Amino acid sequence: LQEKPKDDDKRNFVKLMLEQGRKVVIFYGSQTGTAEDFAQRLGKECKKRLGVQPMVADMELYDLGNLDQLPADCVAVFVIATYGEGDPTDNATEFWELLQQPTPVFSQQDPDLPLSNLRYFMFGLGNSTYEYFNGAARVMDKAMTGLGATRLGERGEGDDDNSLEDDFVQWQDTFFPMLQEELGDVTTDNADTTPTQAYQVKALETAEEFYVGELGDRTQVSFDSKKPFPAAVTLKDLTPHADQGRHCLHLEIDLTGSNMTYQTGDHLGIWPTNNEHQLLLLTRLFGWTDAALDQVYQVTPSDPTAKVPFPQPTTLRAVLRHYLDIAQLPSRAVLEDLLPSLPSTLTDFVKDLLQNKEEYQRVVVKQVRNLGELMAYSLTQQGLPIEGALQQVPLAVVLECFSRLQPRYYSISSSSSESGSKVHVTAVLLQYEPCKEEQRTVYGVNTNYLWAVYQATQNIQNDMYAIQGPHDAYVSSHSNDISVKLPVHVRSSTFRLPAADVPIIMIGPGTGVAPFRGFVRERVHQKVDQGKSVGANLLFFGCRRADEDFLYRDEWPGLFEQLGDESEMICAFSRESEQKVYVQHRLAEQSARVWDLLSQGAYVYVCGDAKYMAKDVLNALINTAMEHGGYTQDQATTFIQDMRANGRYQEDVWA
Ligand code: 2AM
Repeated sequence: LQEKPKDDDKRNFVKLMLEQGRKVVIFYGSQTGTAEDFAQRLGKECKKRLGVQPMVADMELYDLGNLDQLPADCVAVFVIATYGEGDPTDNATEFWELLQQPTPVFSQQDPDLPLSNLRYFMFGLGNSTYEYFNGAARVMDKAMTGLGATRLGERGEGDDDNSLEDDFVQWQDTFFPMLQEELGDVTTDNADTTPTQAYQVKALETAEEFYVGELGDRTQVSFDSKKPFPAAVTLKDLTPHADQGRHCLHLEIDLTGSNMTYQTGDHLGIWPTNNEHQLLLLTRLFGWTDAALDQVYQVTPSDPTAKVPFPQPTTLRAVLRHYLDIAQLPSRAVLEDLLPSLPSTLTDFVKDLLQNKEEYQRVVVKQVRNLGELMAYSLTQQGLPIEGALQQVPLAVVLECFSRLQPRYYSISSSSSESGSKVHVTAVLLQYEPCKEEQRTVYGVNTNYLWAVYQATQNIQNDMYAIQGPHDAYVSSHSNDISVKLPVHVRSSTFRLPAADVPIIMIGPGTGVAPFRGFVRERVHQKVDQGKSVGANLLFFGCRRADEDFLYRDEWPGLFEQLGDESEMICAFSRESEQKVYVQHRLAEQSARVWDLLSQGAYVYVCGDAKYMAKDVLNALINTAMEHGGYTQDQATTFIQDMRANGRYQEDVWA
């Protein structure tokens, strides 16, 4: 048996639970914050329904090697999101790795069934568009029961392709009665519906130092997903002839001095800044003055085991501009919490949204309205002014409405061997009208911020974002010389090139081409600079028109020329002919060549839209295997599945 290092007290959740008298711990594995939100909500519901106060915990902050020490009268709940190709989220990786060990070591070191005392519930969050639906939750569940733990009830499997929210609510219908039974001495009579405020907010009279937008502290020397590196960036518009709202930006981000490295195929997390118009809308609704926005606050959690999602102390302006996601859609749980503080002019409207699912879908989800927009919508409909309409809502309640602003992830479009300290990212500006009936545009938070930064470097005024301001940790501006810093961190991915001599087939329409720019550059580097023998490279790219959104149009000919005759870029321009031509059509046209490469052991890579494109491409390849390999449909499907299992069919797709 391996010796387990002595526990760091702070990471010992069992000790903390005993000190705090908690019987339930809710662990979340969350990448973009949804699982974290669900876990927090579940925690609140436990109190509301059963009077039980659970500890809600970020898996990465505690040592789950102590799970075997959880007393017999306690229960654990796992709210586990799956990320990418059945992968665990970053904060669940440590536990994942512990479970994957041949003999996972827990603190009591019972080698056979170390978790036999553990009783747990599990709810997974996934998206059925992906191959490995709820993969992380399923694998963890199986591993834990394999180690002797008992899962209580069915594993919930939320599907983001349909309605995560409904799946979660439905799972709770069986969860609560079972939890009540497990805990024995609690009944619904214990229900505690008095609203508890998550935070205590204290205005500071004087503050020498306070945060104005920095993530992590100024003296840190290493950077990761929790503490991003403020990196210098330069930006270029790749598509000057594109329509408004369809511009694509090329970013070059300097990692020098960060100690961070990346590999070709990795992702870069970029931390966004909120839209000033959205901040202004909240300012008007809540009736804040400039002085109120610049007031410095110390915010502490009411529950000592909880965390505040921004650094302390800080100003209200920094919180709303840099730390909280004010653009997120308010869940019904948020509206419910807000209801008691709302003015009478808004209570009927919000009650209706809470009681009427269709109305909530129509007004909030379909129209992609955030909290500010939702309140303004109702007030305007009633002919009421929005100024100060929500003045009476306490600040602690306002802060609780929003969760942490999360980084956005982009496929890196450079090759690490070619440019190790400079990371390139290709990002398309996200602007869309959610519904035809009403003329409203929704602006993606991060890409519109990047666009505003780009415009600032061109001396173009863009009033949607504050590019200059007190948050000089990221932005410094001297008349014409604007140097902007973005908080970034590298996230490693499983999207990897094979050995140099293995042929590859890449399929990436739109910004899906981003990682393949990195791949192609890497291959050129291997061939030209390292003198390696490089296999064939086929790249299928699709866009609307050659003269509109053909990304890196001028770069490709030179790159492919260096790769030689066997390599080629094949384009599908969807809007240049009457019939739409997509990458999957080009794949079908090239099926003999594609089959030949597959027979030589080629690797296939697909990047871009998960819902339609990735499925159509998969079907085109199945057809290829049937046509040229003489397979039946089932055999062809198995052939591709085997490729997937062997890492020869890799996807980097998003829903
Ligand atoms: P469209 O917008 O003309 O329909 C990048 O966005 C390219 O991907 C565009 O040319 C777009 O075409 C195309 N595209 C849209 N849906 C697709 C699908 N299901 N499969 C492949 N390409 C698609």
